[in-house]
Amino acid sequence: MMPPETELWNRVEQTAREVFGTYGFGEIRPPIIESTELFARAVGGETDIVSKEMYGFPKKLEILRRATTDLVGQVDTPAKIHVFGQALAVLVLNLGQALEGAVIPTTQTNRHLVEQLKEISGRTIARWRAGQWEPSQQWTNDFETARALIDELEIERLEESSSLRPEATASVCRAYIEHNMQQLPAPVKLYYTGPMFRRERPQKGRYRQFYQIGAEVLGGSDAPGIDAEVIEMVMVYFAKLELPGVQLEINSIGCRDCRPKYVELLRAELQKVKDRLGTDSQRRIETNPLRVLDSKLEHEQAIIETLPRIGEHLCADCAKHYAEVKRQLGMRGVAYKETWRLVRGLDYYMRTTFEITARGLGSQNAVCGGGRYDGLIELLGGPPTKGIGFAIGEDRVILSLLEAGKGNAAEGRDVYIAWMGEKAQATAIAAARTLREAGFRVAMPPVEQKFGKALGQADKLGARYALILGEDEVASGEWTLKTLADGSQKKIAKAELVKFLREAKRDSSLRSE
Ligand code: HAM
Repeated sequence: MMPPETELWNRVEQTAREVFGTYGFGEIRPPIIESTELFARAVGGETDIVSKEMYGFPKKLEILRRATTDLVGQVDTPAKIHVFGQALAVLVLNLGQALEGAVIPTTQTNRHLVEQLKEISGRTIARWRAGQWEPSQQWTNDFETARALIDELEIERLEESSSLRPEATASVCRAYIEHNMQQLPAPVKLYYTGPMFRRERPQKGRYRQFYQIGAEVLGGSDAPGIDAEVIEMVMVYFAKLELPGVQLEINSIGCRDCRPKYVELLRAELQKVKDRLGTDSQRRIETNPLRVLDSKLEHEQAIIETLPRIGEHLCADCAKHYAEVKRQLGMRGVAYKETWRLVRGLDYYMRTTFEITARGLGSQNAVCGGGRYDGLIELLGGPPTKGIGFAIGEDRVILSLLEAGKGNAAEGRDVYIAWMGEKAQATAIAAARTLREAGFRVAMPPVEQKFGKALGQADKLGARYALILGEDEVASGEWTLKTLADGSQKKIAKAELVKFLREAKRDSSLRSE
């Protein structure tokens, strides 16, 4: 990202701040790195995001452990025996330190295991020193025992693993709990902007580092009016940006009472058609049948259309909630389409889910996804709390605006100061300062330039005016101002310049700040 596109990025973010501000949202800036466990618990360990796409920094001991045990099966040459022996020695050294520093649980079992590993490592080193490098039953026995001991170690609990955030809802909920935000007047309304990271196959509109603008409403109420207002806000925002072809899809995926029953029904129905499904969907029948509904595989579409629909299996409370969300969207003049297959790829959702698409994006056309997640805060160890929110894919919003020709954020200069002669340079420097203080975008050459060349440069920079300062102008105090669009020129008194430019700006919406 770089100018002039960054100006568009700033406008997109600034408009969000303005619109979200009018709905009472304040900004939160969560960290970019969080504990892996937070995402596993909040987003779901079985989701693609957590199981395949996270950029994690595993624990050092975990890496060493894995590296060491992976080598065991390969100790069939002297060189490999050497490598394994070294890995074991490093692991044992680190384990000893970790136990001492209580970085891993200092249980009897752990102490005992580390002692035994030390013995094996000691024997290994002694044998090396004696030149016994050849593969033998003795090596194999020792290494297999080492692997078994390593497997038994309990090193998980205290050593934290962290990940680059794939999304920010989990972080916002963690912050809500940690900072006791339930004591604030409810609902707490927060928004955030920033980079997220997912190891996905990159394509147009899908990146490994991408930017989201998100908002969350947390508090004691799950009134459908909150859902409708949040959706209204994001639609108002997109309208303000003039995002083309915006379409809202909504659904309700039920609650802890009705969804499990529906999921069981779905699973049973999926079992009946299992043979006709692809391997991903077949796996999901067990792990997360709802995700089968997300499938984009051509041959699965007709099958999915025959499956039972959640809308017909909502409990009375969920059905009422959903009906009221729709009624309130209507009251707000928000047009929507109901999509029964909209289940979303994160585990924390319940009841209302929604997605918004825009034009000009190809297959990755979702510019916003969100939904209700009552119970997530409790799952993370906080008090019973209701929650709803969304995140906008900023990269996609930018792409869509650019495709529609709405991204004309390239701001040229207001004034280019062309000067010749030493005295004129001093006048130019002072004029540039005055104009910049008044908020105008000003450029001037750092070294003397012939007027012809300077004017060419002014054109290239998209300047609206060229202020021409030669010896005559400096001596008379009457400066020459050239309008580059039509080539017209006028004389203007030094003291009048700022006033003139301000008025011209008002007239022609020349941007000054
Ligand atoms: P999500 O649907 O995973 O939801 O992401 C929201 C939006 O982020 C997507 O609609 C898309 O525009 C954008 N996005 C996702 N992945 C990528 C990518 N690899 N490259 C470019 N853009 C991408 C969430 O993240 C939830 N946290 C939303 C939420 C907030 N739900 C409740 N509160």
